[in-house]
Amino acid sequence: MTFLFNSDARRGAIFAEAFAKELPDLPFAMDAATVHPDAVRYLITWTVPENLACYRNLEVLFSIGAGVDQFHFDAVPAAVKVVRMVEEGIMRMMQEYVALAVLALHRNLPAYLAQQRAGEWRDIPQFQAGSRRIGVLGLGTLGQAVLERLEPFGFPLAGWSRSPRRIEGVTCYHGKPGLKKMLVTSDILVCLLPLTEETRGFLNAELFAKLPEGASLVHTGRGPQLDHEALIAALDSGHLCAAMIDVTDPEPLPAAHPFWSHPKIILTPHVASITQPATAARAVIENIRRHRAGLDPIGLVDRSRGY
Ligand code: NAP
Ligand code: GLV
Repeated sequence: MTFLFNSDARRGAIFAEAFAKELPDLPFAMDAATVHPDAVRYLITWTVPENLACYRNLEVLFSIGAGVDQFHFDAVPAAVKVVRMVEEGIMRMMQEYVALAVLALHRNLPAYLAQQRAGEWRDIPQFQAGSRRIGVLGLGTLGQAVLERLEPFGFPLAGWSRSPRRIEGVTCYHGKPGLKKMLVTSDILVCLLPLTEETRGFLNAELFAKLPEGASLVHTGRGPQLDHEALIAALDSGHLCAAMIDVTDPEPLPAAHPFWSHPKIILTPHVASITQPATAARAVIENIRRHRAGLDPIGLVDRSRGY
């Protein structure tokens, strides 16, 4: 019985140390060539390896990241549990990034950066946080974590999910009827949805049109959720004020792509949040203990929903 780590060596070394201490009975391997495939019970990876079928005794497939859209579920036997990464480090980093983005948009940073480049010294009328309404698409691990981090600033907070949720201090909406209600009251919209067939192309012209005049977007979900042309059109028409974009399709963007130089866009290279190996190793070890005890791992993916 072996745990196979299929990711970078730096993180692997940290995982190996934690496993040796916490699960000394479970052999840990970082080189697939050193393990008999029948011994592999647990695999952690970013993408599903082409030779997955050779791991006939695989029980749990862990994603090294929070997303699982990079997995092709058809290639994973139905009996194998697929688990996304739920760990404190990734939550903290996403809280930081979304707080940074929301504050930057709230305080007109993209416009001030453009003014600086133009040598212009001019103040822009500033709203108080209490009148800047934030809407978060996705009320899962990360959506809830960022709402918790934004709460002390005093923004009115709302969120949207597939199923009904109750979160103190947050107006919760769900399903198609709830979406429009949240969009029309979102001055800053944050996307933290997983990429599924339902959310592909979700951030499009129709959605932008429902946002209030002068709204802004923070996109930290997945690249294929955003219609680039629709965003540029909404920004250029003035309907949207600015956007902070962390994920695109493709990644990286081609050199001539308008996002690189658009004055109303701040672009970062898919760095909003990154799995932190020390906390991630703890989370995976806990999940192996749960699995051995006959419990579902935390972050178990429902393949029929795609997340
Ligand atoms: P999660 O816990 O699975 O939460 C997903 C949320 O989205 C849930 O609230 C779910 O609703 C909602 N949802 C999914 N499909 C929906 C639909 N069709 N309509 C309405 N709501 C829907 O995921 P997470 O851990 O918070 O992560 C979210 C995503 O963040 C990841 O999948 C990944 O793509 C992205 N991410 C990005 C970065 C980055 O660096 N940019 C880093 C990490 C993660 P229910 O509550 O009803 O299930
Ligand atoms: C990063 O995007 C992740 O899914 O962890």
